[in-house]
Amino acid sequence: MKFSRSDFPTGFQFAAATSSYQIEGHRFGGAGATHWDSFAATPGNVVRAENGAVACDHYHRWEEDLDLMQALGLDAYRFSTSWARVLPEGRGTPNAEGLDFYDRLVDGMLARGLNPMATLYHWELPAPLADLGGWRNPDIAHWFADFATVIMKRIGDRVYSAAPINEPWCVGWLSHFMGLHAPGLRDIRATAHAMHHVLTGHGRAIQAMRALGMKNLGAVCNFEYAHPADDSETAVEAAALYDGYYNRFFVGGLFRGAYPENVMEGLAPHMPKGWEDDFPLIREPIDWFGINYYTCKRIAPKDGAWPAHEEIPGPLPKTQMGWEVYPEGLYRILKWLTEEYTGDLPIWVTESGMANPDVPGTPDTERIAYLDAHVAAARRAMDEGVPLKGYTFWSLLDNYEWSLGYEKRFGLVHVDFETLVRTPKASYDQLKDALAR
Ligand code: FCB
Repeated sequence: MKFSRSDFPTGFQFAAATSSYQIEGHRFGGAGATHWDSFAATPGNVVRAENGAVACDHYHRWEEDLDLMQALGLDAYRFSTSWARVLPEGRGTPNAEGLDFYDRLVDGMLARGLNPMATLYHWELPAPLADLGGWRNPDIAHWFADFATVIMKRIGDRVYSAAPINEPWCVGWLSHFMGLHAPGLRDIRATAHAMHHVLTGHGRAIQAMRALGMKNLGAVCNFEYAHPADDSETAVEAAALYDGYYNRFFVGGLFRGAYPENVMEGLAPHMPKGWEDDFPLIREPIDWFGINYYTCKRIAPKDGAWPAHEEIPGPLPKTQMGWEVYPEGLYRILKWLTEEYTGDLPIWVTESGMANPDVPGTPDTERIAYLDAHVAAARRAMDEGVPLKGYTFWSLLDNYEWSLGYEKRFGLVHVDFETLVRTPKASYDQLKDALAR
């Protein structure tokens, strides 16, 4: 790697991220069924119908995984808590084993000098709540706040930071409009409701955690840089609409108390009753904001119903996901976000990384270059005033990449999914050197 820890201010933190369903092994420890289990069991949704039943077996191998992060020289670990592991029915009686697991995990991080950065929800909705409409049901904000209280009563005294929901766009649009993630709906009314309730849920969870006396509470959204496919007016408008529902909708709610007009042209008729009154809740003050960044998109207009556009392939080198490598987008988004929305609020890169068809023994030079270029883009934004406090790599381990199953490898550490053996990749070794310099 070209960068060194010493290029960054004292106190700047480097972290790695994972999420519960992607690594833990959901069949262990008394966790309840989630909508990802049923989504994955339905033919056509997930490559080879793979699910998170075993994943990386982090549930049993968590000490080894924390050791790997300590040896890497990280300052923090961004993990998530599975709602269904803590509350198998989504509400009601907690699963003592689940609470014990997160308790041990947090203590294990502290013992290794890793700051625990908790995300409450990284997508594995308890199936009984999905049966009640999941994110379409306005009551979810209350169910979610109750879950926040149960888990944080147990670990909230020791976590360094907490955010309610990972990537509202994925919970709302990807899962309810595109149908690519659980619950796999393609319905504009479901989308409008989910996009709004994810934010009311965020607000209620922040309130619940504040009520427990917790500090350093934030939010994490994902962003893609939206290029118009060409410089025609229609392409520029199409890209602005993509930018609207992907990048601006959630920060609009969180920081301005309003949704973008171009997005409301499509969604307004489908919004839940009384949505305009929810912004005081959605704007509940937060202490930091996290951005997840991977790629850019090229957007072209297309005949048909709103949003009437499509993604077209771009010219840049692509990762195993088919995503263009565009570090400049991270720089631009950091600048744009702080200038237009977040101001002086501390910012974190809470995820960035790439998938590559890695095999142990062959250096993952593509990942080394990717990480280096994106860290450099973030450093450049800091030079220009962006108050960036930390940088998080996705991911510590190869893991369950949702509807793409186990094939897309994002880890700094290779996982053999037959034997569950962990093997650090060249990117891990190089990152370790960079962080020691
Ligand atoms: C992000 C998700 C994470 C992982 C990466 C590749 O959108 O937060 O779980 O799937 O993409």
